[in-house]
Amino acid sequence: MEKINAVITGVGGYVPEDVLTNDDIAKMVDTSDEWIMTRVGIKERRILREEGKGTSFMGICAVNELLKKTGVDAETVEAVICATTTPDYHFPTTASIIAYNTGCKNAFTFDVQGACAGFLYALETASNYIRSGRYKRIIVVAGDKMTAITDYTDRNTCPLFGDGCGAVMVEPTTENYGVMDTILRTNGIGLEHLIMKAGGSAYPPSHETVDRREHFVYQDGRYVFKHAVSDMADVAAEVVARNGLTNDDITWVVPHQANLRIIDATAKRLGVRDDQVMINIQKYGNTSAGTIPLCLWEWESKLKKGDNLILAAFGAGFTWGSIYVKWGYDGKEA
Ligand code: ACO
Repeated sequence: MEKINAVITGVGGYVPEDVLTNDDIAKMVDTSDEWIMTRVGIKERRILREEGKGTSFMGICAVNELLKKTGVDAETVEAVICATTTPDYHFPTTASIIAYNTGCKNAFTFDVQGACAGFLYALETASNYIRSGRYKRIIVVAGDKMTAITDYTDRNTCPLFGDGCGAVMVEPTTENYGVMDTILRTNGIGLEHLIMKAGGSAYPPSHETVDRREHFVYQDGRYVFKHAVSDMADVAAEVVARNGLTNDDITWVVPHQANLRIIDATAKRLGVRDDQVMINIQKYGNTSAGTIPLCLWEWESKLKKGDNLILAAFGAGFTWGSIYVKWGYDGKEA
């Protein structure tokens, strides 16, 4: 039997129209555009303002665009996997809401919670369903409404995050393209350093948890930075080395967009030029699970069949990983 590879056959995306600039943030907390640009590299981020709209709203927009661009009939989609840390509700899943509202009525659905590495976890999961030969068409939709869990009185975290979602179609091929190799890692040491403490079963919501502002992201930035900078670069270098690639073979590095300094360290470690690295942190900030598919969305028209992409991410948990993708189609200018 011929080997089945899982290949990305289309990309969709969505970011809200509302822009929150560094100057807007400097009116809320003691910070400045200069500090945020030098320490993080973010100029502005998009925010989903309308009450009652959650991550699924952005996921639905991204999936609708994906279906339109690929010309795929929604009823032929067999699974919708949503990677998010900011689901609309504890239950039901955000994937079920997205599938229902995009006409994917024959799909089974579930959410994956891998924080900022969520897209990588979900893409690897979808790829293995496809490689099994049992499934032919799966949508991975990934993103977050980070502003829903961002404390706009905390200058350590509020400049970092934005809202957005991306989506990819994953299908089988017998050609040598697609998701070629993956390394995923987890280390629970991260728990106390990057957490939304309350609202789950350990600390259910109460007046006290609200008063203590425990329904927002808490991050020990320096500790997380140290792990992110080495772990993301290490795992990307490991994927590159074990596939016999050199820096000349890499067409694009697609890094999670949490901090420009972490992105630069990963690029340096892989020995690639700046123009080989997808970077849009300056305009979208950290959309958590959304950053990598939103990069693919933005760069899709430039991608060529056979391009070698190295995806890499690091997030809460800690969770991190890297995926080597051999791109499966030529992009078209819109
Ligand atoms: N404006 C001005 N000063 C600030 C701000 C701000 N917005 N934020 C922090 N500072 C101050 C601090 O109070 C501190 O002051 P002090 O020295 O007087 O105590 C000083 O700046 C330095 O603070 P650090 O936290 O050491 O700043 P650092 O250079 O590490 O940058 C940052 C902070 C941007 C958070 C960085 O540590 C980082 O990027 N960490 C990793 C983020 C990441 O990768 N997260 C994982 C993904 S996110 C997810 O999974 C949800």
